[in-house]
Amino acid sequence: MGITKNIAVLPGDGIGPEVIDQAIKVLNTIANKFGHTFTYAHGLIGAAAIDETGNPYPDETEAICRQADAILFGAIGHPKYDNDPSAKVRPEQGLLKMRKSLGLFANIRPVTTYDTLASISPLKDEIIKGVDFVVFRELTGGIYFGEPRGRSENGESAFDTCTYSAYEIERVTALAFEAAQKRSKRLTLVDKANVLATSRLWREKVTAMAINYPDVELDFMFVDNAAMKIIQNPKHFDVVVTENMFGDILTDEASVLTGSLGMLPSASIGKGVSLYEPIHGSYPQVAGMGKANPLAAILSAAMLLNHSFGLLTESKAIEDAVKSAISAGVCTEDLKPSKVHSTTEVGEYIVKAINEIV
Ligand code: IPM
Ligand code: MN
Repeated sequence: MGITKNIAVLPGDGIGPEVIDQAIKVLNTIANKFGHTFTYAHGLIGAAAIDETGNPYPDETEAICRQADAILFGAIGHPKYDNDPSAKVRPEQGLLKMRKSLGLFANIRPVTTYDTLASISPLKDEIIKGVDFVVFRELTGGIYFGEPRGRSENGESAFDTCTYSAYEIERVTALAFEAAQKRSKRLTLVDKANVLATSRLWREKVTAMAINYPDVELDFMFVDNAAMKIIQNPKHFDVVVTENMFGDILTDEASVLTGSLGMLPSASIGKGVSLYEPIHGSYPQVAGMGKANPLAAILSAAMLLNHSFGLLTESKAIEDAVKSAISAGVCTEDLKPSKVHSTTEVGEYIVKAINEIV
């Protein structure tokens, strides 16, 4: 039986719209093949939303998201704000506001590597082959949101606040433990418990929770050591759980292990509707030029089908089609194929591959 679902589509800035176009094409192919009906409601976010409404996350976008069964998001950010520290309204505020107001407290970032891309990884073949781990990044707490924040009266000092409650730690950690149970049963908490009070709370709470997951082996790693380990021996990791900012930094580092930032999807889940987005940013330098790698966006659509709609076969069909594009060398320039293909050509190849596989 086919299902009917409504997807909020927020293409955002830079290369967001063009990679999301490919992901939608792929979703439509899946809908046709499997007899599902997907409808789409488009919303503004980021610099695109500031230009039209003055607000990086307009109320109308929030309403579209709340009514949807899942959200597909492109990218956010525009250079005209990056070099202007005095800008009062910034595109990134839209993303942070959306995460907070939709309660998207867990950001799941799988780090999958492909043997056929091992040669373009910055790491040696023997270190990269077989790497497969997933990071659970806490997404609505910590220094990103803590109060107070700001400037001293004379403007000569500034402060941010990092806070965590037991509740915020436990809800994301529970998801990480459950994921570990389904994988190789190892969970690593990354923190800075030798320095930070918040990290010591993380350690205390996560340690206490381990009793409920006796089959999972829990270990701890300081974030500086983890940063080193990710390049020295990434196979060490299976499931990682960490706070907001450490997760932000480590997943950017981990995302290039594959060889390109353009490969990794992510899911942000929480209390209600979930959001799916490529890890990469808006890459304004190539926006509109057909050079952007659509694979992370397409793989985000695959995660959406699996996590939000329970469509495992459909999700797998997309992943297999992506693998076949990579093996056939039908890739954008970041993956260094012998012949460079455009964003649209890659999307079309994947559509064709799904039609053939299924
Ligand atoms: C990410 C991004 C965001 C973050 C920015 C755009 C606010 O880097 O999703 O990782 O820091 O969380
Ligand atoms: Mn980031």
